[in-house]
Amino acid sequence: MTAKYKIIFVTGTDTDVGKTHISSSLLQGFLLSGKKVGYWKPVQSGGKNLDLDVVLTSTKGDLNHFESIYTFEEPVSPDQAARKVGVKIDLQKIFQQIPNTQPLDYLVVEGAGGLFVPLNEQGETWIDFLRLVESHVVVVSRCGLGTLNHTLLTVRALSNVSTKSSSVVLSGENHAENKKSLTRDLPSDVKLCSFPRSSFGEESHDLHCKKLVGSLNEVFSLKGDNLNDHQKNLWRPFTQHKLSPNSPRVVSAKGIWLTMEGGEKLMDGVSSWWTNSIGHAHPRIGRAIHKQQQTLDHVLFADMVHQPALELVSLLKKELHEDLSKYFFSDDGSTAVEVALKMCCQHWKQSTGKVRKRFMVLEGGYHGDTLGAMSLGKGSGFHDPYHHWMFDVDILRPKLAFEDSQNDADFHSVESIQETLTNEHDQIAGFIMEPLLQGASGMRVIDPQWQKAIVVACKEKNIPVIFDEIFTGFGRAGSMFAYQQLGVTPDIICLSKALTGGNLALSLTVATDTIFQSFYSDQKSDALLHGHSYTANPIACAAAVETLKVYREEGVLNNLSVLMQSLSKMRNNIKNYSGFYNVRQVGGVLAFEIAESTRSYNVDTAFIRELASKHQIFLRPLGNTVYVCPPFHLKPHEVSLFEEKFMMFCQSLCHYQQLQKE
Ligand SMILES: Cc1ncc(COP(=O)(O)O)c(C=O)c1O
Repeated sequence: MTAKYKIIFVTGTDTDVGKTHISSSLLQGFLLSGKKVGYWKPVQSGGKNLDLDVVLTSTKGDLNHFESIYTFEEPVSPDQAARKVGVKIDLQKIFQQIPNTQPLDYLVVEGAGGLFVPLNEQGETWIDFLRLVESHVVVVSRCGLGTLNHTLLTVRALSNVSTKSSSVVLSGENHAENKKSLTRDLPSDVKLCSFPRSSFGEESHDLHCKKLVGSLNEVFSLKGDNLNDHQKNLWRPFTQHKLSPNSPRVVSAKGIWLTMEGGEKLMDGVSSWWTNSIGHAHPRIGRAIHKQQQTLDHVLFADMVHQPALELVSLLKKELHEDLSKYFFSDDGSTAVEVALKMCCQHWKQSTGKVRKRFMVLEGGYHGDTLGAMSLGKGSGFHDPYHHWMFDVDILRPKLAFEDSQNDADFHSVESIQETLTNEHDQIAGFIMEPLLQGASGMRVIDPQWQKAIVVACKEKNIPVIFDEIFTGFGRAGSMFAYQQLGVTPDIICLSKALTGGNLALSLTVATDTIFQSFYSDQKSDALLHGHSYTANPIACAAAVETLKVYREEGVLNNLSVLMQSLSKMRNNIKNYSGFYNVRQVGGVLAFEIAESTRSYNVDTAFIRELASKHQIFLRPLGNTVYVCPPFHLKPHEVSLFEEKFMMFCQSLCHYQQLQKE
């Protein structure tokens, strides 16, 4: 949320440390320096207006004050007080009701208790509030025994959210030693000052208030930058800036929800480009990332190895077929594919002394945006502007499993492929394909029998088969890996996207020992001469390790089957909608076309996105193909809510199309 004024959020290291005293002193200091200020305590336990009354009696001048949203009689934590009277504290409601009608310079918002005091049964705290609201945070700390530990813990907790500034006010008797220790141990950008607690004469009180505001002014008045001004300097991926010069700003994400600037909440219907399988901001992944950064952030991977990479290999060995035994790390899907391509080229050169240049690919296959990956994805129609710079590939038309209209002449028969392989196998370096489901070219489902037969035919001729499971892997196609459903194991598999649960960029190209042996020699030049600065970045590996543990320990694939049942129900409901074509579902993906004619990526689908966001879903259709693939580690009520909203969206879309026809 971008308020027209600055928000100062006052919290404490504990209850009764003097939050209200410091809030009113700040307000008094501002009023004395001619500022327009407001006070708001959104959640008040212990009696109506308890703290507001204190603030009103200890400030003079034109103070704006606003009603609490939740008031409880019992002086206990907000979640307990609310539970006792059958109320649910809704953080969104608090966020949406932040007062913004008055022209203010500063709004002081006082929390209830410390940062981690639970607000509701979901365990949301003020930390979650700070994720939504850009504010300056003032931590009030008592001055005495325990101060150091409580203050440092609170400030450390604040480092998990992005605040405009953080400062600590020691409230009470001056304690020179505490101040000395905190000056040494607090992060250098956290301002520290003290404020007396005991009463003193009015004049001297005003002086102290002015002094307090004076010492914090430098952090409060940090020049507010309107970030949206910088949108004109962005060059976004797959975006025509003339049609879409600005994009909405997302401020935070949790579970399936994305929270936008201004408070709008959208369900992430496409798992943020298919990366996020386990919901946003999973706390276990956050902790693993933080811990790893503090232990070993990065080191080159050529002459050193490290625990997170080894642990990741150990966990993946339990998931992948044992023939896939050599793990090469890189950074994203495209580079994982480049590596697979280079493995095949060098494998043939070094194992036979002959160069094999031809790659077989499937029409509709998309493998990434670097030059090699684009060449392999030539049949996807994504990379047309770069055709002159790509190498040639043999594009085969796959047998599809979802288009009733496809007839035998529209795909290459297994026999014709076998014939090519028999006659020309000594020229073919490899065959790459997305197993079961081609994602980017429009969620195209491939006939599994057909695909299996061509893999078997390649294997008979020793042609390496590369499965690009960057999209289908880690459950998206309905099993941990799609190759398991096909019943054939590739020679090379490319993995990325959900590998880190949607948290950090990391990828793997895993090959058989046969491929690896072609590189194994006394010559350095026979090595796979490929690597990136961030190869096997320990933090990304730690995120992947924790993701795989979450998969095992939190039953992620069981939750996937709950989502699959829901998607299949939705498919049955919408399959006869007029204007919806080829309604299909594979694993955690549901898709259909909204035009009977051939698919095209380059159509403007802004109206679909707008319609979806009216139903609280974020979608990004692939041309005429509308699809959803939400995170699948969801709570049952989130799955039901998603189903309800998506069905409403489908009805609106159907209705909209009918209106267009009339
Ligand atoms: C099947 C497949 N391969 C490769 C890629 C490229 O991955 P990245 O965007 O991480 O480079 C994608 C991306 O969508 C993909 O779906």
